[in-house]
Amino acid sequence: MSIEIPQGLTELLQSFTVEVLRNQPRDLLEFALQYFTRLKERETTEAPFGQHERQNSAPRAAKAVNFIDEAMQIDSENGEEDDDDDDDEDDDEFMAPVINRFIRRASVCAEAFNPDEDEEDKEPLVTHPKTDEQRQRLQEACWDILLFKNLDPEEMSQVLDAMFEKFCVDGDHIIDQDDDGDNFYVIESGTFNIFVRADGAEKKVSCYDNRGSFGELALMYNTPRAATIIATSTGALWCLDRLTFRRIIVKNNAKKRRLYEAFIETLPLLTSLELSERMKVVDVISSRTYSDSQQIIAQGDLADCFYIVESGQVRITMKRSRTKKEQEEEEVDIAMCSRGQYFGELALVTNKPRAASAYAVGSVKCLVMDVKAFERLLGPCMDIMKRNIANYEEQLKSLFGSSTEIEQQSS
Ligand code: CMP
Ligand code: CMP
Repeated sequence: MSIEIPQGLTELLQSFTVEVLRNQPRDLLEFALQYFTRLKERETTEAPFGQHERQNSAPRAAKAVNFIDEAMQIDSENGEEDDDDDDDEDDDEFMAPVINRFIRRASVCAEAFNPDEDEEDKEPLVTHPKTDEQRQRLQEACWDILLFKNLDPEEMSQVLDAMFEKFCVDGDHIIDQDDDGDNFYVIESGTFNIFVRADGAEKKVSCYDNRGSFGELALMYNTPRAATIIATSTGALWCLDRLTFRRIIVKNNAKKRRLYEAFIETLPLLTSLELSERMKVVDVISSRTYSDSQQIIAQGDLADCFYIVESGQVRITMKRSRTKKEQEEEEVDIAMCSRGQYFGELALVTNKPRAASAYAVGSVKCLVMDVKAFERLLGPCMDIMKRNIANYEEQLKSLFGSSTEIEQQSS
């Protein structure tokens, strides 16, 4: 008896296998589900043009979906609904993740998210000559940019060589929502408002104040710009062109995914996120190492980052006056965080200074996420965080009785 292999099966399975090998998903079943759902959707939407072609040819495996790109879009569509609910019941400080909620134009769509292919490497490296003074300013502006933290020295140097300066004045539109992405921007100076348009209404969601970076999403995920950025003062920006960004940063992110995907999957905090949202978390985190006793967070400081312990232990302490009237303060241990636990969320959620300090116990590695990514990506995890924050007060009461000074700082 001969078994006939259905036409197209080989191509279908080959394309799927290629995507699996390329993305190395932790959850193969979910990956498969999204992959084939997307493929089917594409077949349905293209049916009027494809019917006749399909009678004679294999299913559209050869035209297989580039999974990451497509899955990002599916998920953000779902995420939008979820977050609307969140917004209703929680606070509106946390905007729904807005990336990829718009239909991509063909020109953008055509470029696949494929960091392992070396097409882009064939172009010569971009270099913008700089004076020593410019390079010094550029290095200072880029010092704290998380997306650059995982680059090796050679990659970092290529990025710095490629960056060029752009000055702006109050009212300049640096980015307009829905445009194609041209550059990634690092702020050297100036203030900027962020607006997001959803359901026809534009809303200011946040702002940048003389530090930070923006414009990475359209370049990372080949989507239209997800927000409008307008200067509210004169300012200076350093720009990195799309090609260099993809060639260096996006490729680096692919390595990062392989490194951190498994760990991210184990984090209880992120269970309310979809698989591809967790991948986006991997894309924005960077790893920082601390030596024994090094301070990671100082109580009272302004907050700009959120931390997840990757290895080692982190000691959380709080200052308190020895007596109600005395000026002298002592620092008291209030908690310990170990692998998989997070800290530094409270100040970001409440918009207040850091409520406690954090110190490395032994050698410590943390995954760090900046405040803007925290707001954009972790909205769905707010319930878990809020429940934990409610526990802080109980924890402090049991440690200090009803000492109000400390409660007030953390509430
Ligand atoms: P991109 O979509 O390329 O262009 C607009 C940028 O605004 C976006 O990348 C982010 O870097 C930045 N941004 C800041 N806050 C938000 C937000 N809430 N939603 C979307 N983009 C944001
Ligand atoms: P944040 O205030 O941003 O910085 C200090 C962090 O310590 C805080 O966020 C929490 O993540 C963490 N922390 C742990 N226990 C407590 C507590 N009882 N009160 C306040 N912060 C705590």
